[in-house]
Amino acid sequence: MENQIVKERTERTKWYNDARFGMFIHWGLYAIPARGEWVRSNERMPKEEYDVFMDEFYAENYNPKEWAKLAKKAGMKYAVLTAKHHDGFCLYDSRYTDFKSTNAPCKRDLVREFLDAFREEGIKVGLYFSIIDWRREDYPHYGDMFHPMRDNEAYKGMEHDFDGYLTYMHNQVRELLTNYGHLDLMWFDFSYGPMNCEKWKASELIKMVREIQPHIIIDNRLEGSAENAGSIRTLNPTAYSGDFASPEQMIPPQGIRDAGGNPIPWEACITLNNHWGYHAHDKHYKSAKMIIHTLVECVSKNGNLILNVGPDATGRIPRESVEILTEVGEWMEENGRSIYGCGISEFPKPEWGRFTQNGNKLYAHVMEEQVGAICLPEMAGKADRLRLLKDKSEVKETHFWNLKEYQENAFFFFDSGASDCYPLPDERDTVVEILLKE
Ligand code: GLC
Repeated sequence: MENQIVKERTERTKWYNDARFGMFIHWGLYAIPARGEWVRSNERMPKEEYDVFMDEFYAENYNPKEWAKLAKKAGMKYAVLTAKHHDGFCLYDSRYTDFKSTNAPCKRDLVREFLDAFREEGIKVGLYFSIIDWRREDYPHYGDMFHPMRDNEAYKGMEHDFDGYLTYMHNQVRELLTNYGHLDLMWFDFSYGPMNCEKWKASELIKMVREIQPHIIIDNRLEGSAENAGSIRTLNPTAYSGDFASPEQMIPPQGIRDAGGNPIPWEACITLNNHWGYHAHDKHYKSAKMIIHTLVECVSKNGNLILNVGPDATGRIPRESVEILTEVGEWMEENGRSIYGCGISEFPKPEWGRFTQNGNKLYAHVMEEQVGAICLPEMAGKADRLRLLKDKSEVKETHFWNLKEYQENAFFFFDSGASDCYPLPDERDTVVEILLKE
């Protein structure tokens, strides 16, 4: 008998499993030091040294309509913005703190503008919310695993009213869920060591979340993290185990299943360079081809890709990110049907690329040019017809003289008129739609 929590999760995540491709946006004061969103922790930076950045936060180039158009052009179906990261700075008009964008020189509710702009483009919207808050006096400092003051003796023995912190944290979640309209997703981040589950009063928190926005899907980090997915992978998930797992900066080799072998929703969260928050000198960007291959790999394993952009302090998405997403979008424009609503195939991974599948439509993602015809392993007689997805042109199965020994397989080629070598129509990933025989 299916577990009720699993049943509700399956229902809630239908749109999410079809969407497959989302935008993550990490933006905040940390874009000013521009050394990544963990700068306070990494550099043991005192609160006073960090707070001053708020006085420079003009966000003068912030235009979320442009962000939304870029996400749409890239083929992204949902987007998640950091409403508050571990530094505690709120990109929205929180009732519970003065450390917020409406008190910065920009004087704007950045979250509200983000939600309005992305909804206008028909993109589903989510908010990332840090359950950690390094700026709060009532959050553990000395001896914590990550707090910026974790090894500062001055904080040794300091008392922290952690219940007071939880009241603050739960109140902020409530105001986000109450004051900003229909949200499709909440991305909580993250649990670690003793800081997990009921330490956050997670049962109480998730009860409130489900009461205010019952449809909303949440990640698994009230309980887990990128290192440990938590009970979402068991047959007895907790109420706060989340609706999807959140592997980070890697693609799970076999996708993610629960202890019963049932696929569970998951999204790989990946950066375009090597930082979530803006880093002025990290120019090591992944190519559009690599992003396309990564997206296809996620879908071929029943997962999603949420791809991060880190806008600079003025609110501009880095030019490199715009260029990559624009090229990915051109490929998605022609091949999105092999991504949206697709998942793992009934056929094993071929040597030249990957399969994604949606019912009786199998998508062959040919990523490497082959010597001779392209082999569909042990698929002789299984294909009704083959079409190049981008233009629906016929792709011919072949029975070349040199293939006669291997008739258990099917073969096809891209007939460019040349003999013996068949360049890929799209060297990044050429997609062939194979209509399978019933
Ligand atoms: C990790 C990073 C955090 C980032 C998150 C995104 O938890 O530490 O900064 O926001 O991944 O998935």
